[in-house]
Amino acid sequence: MIVLGISGLPQAQAYYLKRNPSVLKRDRRICQGMDSAAALVVDGEIIAAAAEERFTGEKATGAFPMAAIEYCLADAGVSRNDVDVIAHGFDYDSYRRFFVTDVHAFENAYAGATVVQALEESGWDRVAERFRRVEHHQAHAVSAFATSGFESALTIVSDGMGEIDALSVFGCRGKRYDRLHHQGIAASLGIAYSLVTRFLGFSFNSDEYKVMGLSAYGVAARHRSFTETFLSTQDGSVDVGWPKAALSEPAAGYPHAMAFLAAKFGMPPREPGEPVDERHADVAASFQQRFSEVLRDFVSGWLTRSGESSLCLAGGTFLNCLANESIGELPEVDRLFVPPASGDDGTSIGAALAVSGRGRVRKPYSPYSGPSYSSAQVLEAVEDTQSRAPGSLVATTLGLTDEYFARAADDIAADRIIAWFHGRMEFGPRALGNRSILAHPAGKRIKDRLNLVVKQRESFRPFAPAVLDEDFESLFDSRLHVPSHFMLMTARTRPEVVERLGGAVHADGTARVQVVTRERNEPFWRLLREVKRLTGTGCVINTSFNVKNQPIIAHPATAVAGLLTMSLDRLYAEGTVLSPAVAGAEVEATSSAL
Ligand SMILES: [Fe+2]
Repeated sequence: MIVLGISGLPQAQAYYLKRNPSVLKRDRRICQGMDSAAALVVDGEIIAAAAEERFTGEKATGAFPMAAIEYCLADAGVSRNDVDVIAHGFDYDSYRRFFVTDVHAFENAYAGATVVQALEESGWDRVAERFRRVEHHQAHAVSAFATSGFESALTIVSDGMGEIDALSVFGCRGKRYDRLHHQGIAASLGIAYSLVTRFLGFSFNSDEYKVMGLSAYGVAARHRSFTETFLSTQDGSVDVGWPKAALSEPAAGYPHAMAFLAAKFGMPPREPGEPVDERHADVAASFQQRFSEVLRDFVSGWLTRSGESSLCLAGGTFLNCLANESIGELPEVDRLFVPPASGDDGTSIGAALAVSGRGRVRKPYSPYSGPSYSSAQVLEAVEDTQSRAPGSLVATTLGLTDEYFARAADDIAADRIIAWFHGRMEFGPRALGNRSILAHPAGKRIKDRLNLVVKQRESFRPFAPAVLDEDFESLFDSRLHVPSHFMLMTARTRPEVVERLGGAVHADGTARVQVVTRERNEPFWRLLREVKRLTGTGCVINTSFNVKNQPIIAHPATAVAGLLTMSLDRLYAEGTVLSPAVAGAEVEATSSAL
């Protein structure tokens, strides 16, 4: 059976903006259906998955994922008519009764018919008869458990909200998902985090990772008396202590919630562009600490109740790697799986797997499910650039030879910043070594230089390390029960190596580690082995290969353009070494200008 999975609500943001034309830029994502994506599942196995943003260039777009769909079909070599089922990661139609006072919103933004219509307008036939709706949290849960490799697990879903739920607990075994608990928007930890994000002057449903980064610089005890009462968990439920009306008027920027937080934190909301100071860091630290504690205690309680020791986590909340670390440290957790696309993009996979009839996938889950490009396609992109800007590049094609990996490692050891473009693009927000910018963690002023490359990045945001599996234990003190292959959990850096890992260690001593194994990513593993040979440590800084405010680069042409515009020293792409011509003097005599 061929199943196409879709996430997103194609009309929801446009409808929201039309209804609220004066909405502030930072509030443009206070709506459902962002992070649209498509996935193709054939006979229960994931063949392809990609987010729409990578094809359109609009970061975290909620637009109908037509380009992602076309990529998935082309990758699998199937036609539109070959698709047996089209599965969507929302089921608002089952909750239509909640829209009695706003039928217009239901019909124009939330109904499954909006997805059917978008496909029909794109020339698809027989859409309605092939269309299946999957409840949002069910889709999240399946995206995690079905790809975890576990026979049974407790699966927790936490996000802003789905149709009406913001927190769900599932007992999962084989194909069976028993919903053990669910709570609505009033208990939304995702919305609470987004509102603190907005209070700190950042964008709602977008910049939460900045608050997480900022939290390392603050004093968590400063607002402890408030956060302790504001977020709590008891008897298997979460309580968020918003006063009445706090969650009203979202399009106006939640004025009641902002006033409440201002009173409790004793300071006005920060306006975008204002300096970030220690008061903001204290708010971030206080809230993050309590957020992690409450999630940890909630999960702990449910593990005890259910008797489970295998745990899956899904939903945008679990992109918070500090919270994930504190959950992973629980003695009740034997095994933990967080899918790399734990945000709404991942519901495309979850919806497709939910209707595929298979239950769990057989192969170990791989996030490398996006488009790949051949060496010849890289050279085409180089030639195209050279024809438009003659002499701008120096290129040497070595293939994936030992020399190629040695040269890349040499560059890293020599403190050059390189882009690394290989294989299939990652699914989920993190670059995991196929579309990455890499650097030596102990490099001179490495964070400042990377911040210059990844232009205008806030100085408080951390960089993360990718580490050879064999070196993980000696560098990090992790009480995690499973290593993180997907950069979704922090670990504590061992004090004796903090200096060696320099730029990859955050202000609080944590690092958001990616453990790299040969089985999961051989080219990246080979590079790290070479880096270890030269530097003694199989570790590099790994940050996503993208221009500020743009999605991770998908195509070689964008990668080549990125080399020239981002002050990178080198681009290594599918066996070809590329340098900007201005740095050509540094390249050995074997190099030839194309
Ligand atoms: Fe979600």
